[in-house]
Amino acid sequence: MSQKNNYPKIAIDGPAGTGKSTVTREVSRRLRLKYLDTGAMYRAITLKLLREKVDLSDDQALEDILQRTVIKLNDKQEVFLNGEDVTEEIRGAAVNKMVSPVAAISRVRRRLVEMQRAIAAESGGIVMEGRDIASKVMPDADFKFYLDATLAERARRRWKEQNDKGIILSGEEVMAEIKNRDSIDSKRDDSPLTSVFDAIVIDTTSMDFEAVVDKIVDTISADLP
Ligand code: DC
Repeated sequence: MSQKNNYPKIAIDGPAGTGKSTVTREVSRRLRLKYLDTGAMYRAITLKLLREKVDLSDDQALEDILQRTVIKLNDKQEVFLNGEDVTEEIRGAAVNKMVSPVAAISRVRRRLVEMQRAIAAESGGIVMEGRDIASKVMPDADFKFYLDATLAERARRRWKEQNDKGIILSGEEVMAEIKNRDSIDSKRDDSPLTSVFDAIVIDTTSMDFEAVVDKIVDTISADLP
């Protein structure tokens, strides 16, 4: 970081199943910074579009929904869609299946990036996680991290997470879903998932959660006043 800054902007990007959300939440707690899970915002708009049965190729209908939709996250990362708590529902199978195609639509990205930048501007320092935070939302971030792990390990973590919630899926199903999301997220034209040249890449495959958090917090703390 060029100038020492008490209110750092921190970007954490990476594919599904790298532990980004849990890690980011803990980093924000330890550094007392605001946390924003941008994936939750893409999930919330996906839920809205599914409920309204919007044809994704209908630009006018899409724009209309985007104008009418207010997405809010509180400090506990509970997600509100026009005031309704949808925290649980956005993690369900229907949204899981559609969120990547929705997130590939430029009109949707434009609106959500605008909201994310506004949240960053109002915050006194923020840790924001997603796919395009360093490349698009906060290219001026003070710290940029890119979390990665092998496909097999990411699928194993996702399977366990679902299993702990009582959702029983086969290993093959989870692997296929992650592969499909990786492919759409990294091949789309608009802001694909990518690691920027100045990001610190952390391969979390054989690291536990605490080690990843420590590495990030230590890197940032070393540079804070
Ligand atoms: O992190 P997640 O699995 O909750 O993200 C859900 C989807 O949203 C994922 O398939 C990619 C997309 N996404 C995105 O395109 N850009 C972001 N900044 C965050 C998520």
